[in-house]
Amino acid sequence: MHKNIQILHIPSSGTTQYVKHSWVAHVNNKCVGHIHLQREANKKIKFLDAWVHEDYRRQGIFRALWNTRWEFVNKEFKGFKAYAWAKPMSLPLLLEKGFSEGDNCIYVEKQIKDNPPYGPQCFVSC
Ligand SMILES: CC(C)(COP(=O)(O)OP(=O)(O)OC[C@H]1O[C@@H](n2cnc3c(N)ncnc32)[C@H](O)[C@@H]1OP(=O)(O)O)[C@@H](O)C(=O)NCCC(=O)NCCS
Repeated sequence: MHKNIQILHIPSSGTTQYVKHSWVAHVNNKCVGHIHLQREANKKIKFLDAWVHEDYRRQGIFRALWNTRWEFVNKEFKGFKAYAWAKPMSLPLLLEKGFSEGDNCIYVEKQIKDNPPYGPQCFVSC
């Protein structure tokens, strides 16, 4: 990894039920990557929103962030189950780390138009 890069942990505030931890990779006051975890019900933690600045990719920053977060969860979340919705670029590292692959999930979308018909449409022909 780039030698000047450091990793900062942003802990959960502890003031609400929403528990999120973040790790920020930075160099010379510039954020070059981040990674997060969110605590959920039933002793689950979700890994989410990994991102590395385009100019700094393929230098091991995601791996370094991932390993730092993993050390933390092994101390703080023993007995929990970690899961993630992986994209093609993040899946290989998760598989390498021993995560098992579940179902695929496909993104779908639809534009909501102005004045959508409310209830069943009544066609008038004359
Ligand atoms: C995915 C992302 C975080 C990887 O960051 P990175 O710092 O470039 O990754 P690293 O250099 O630490 O690579 C770690 C491992 O991830 C995998 N990986 C990273 N980029 C990859 C790519 N373009 N294609 C396939 N695998 C990739 C490889 O297994 C790699 O290990 P290797 O270098 O030994 O082959 C970065 O490309 C990104 O921000 N992408 C856009 C956002 C995104 O898709 N985030 C995932 C959200 S779930």
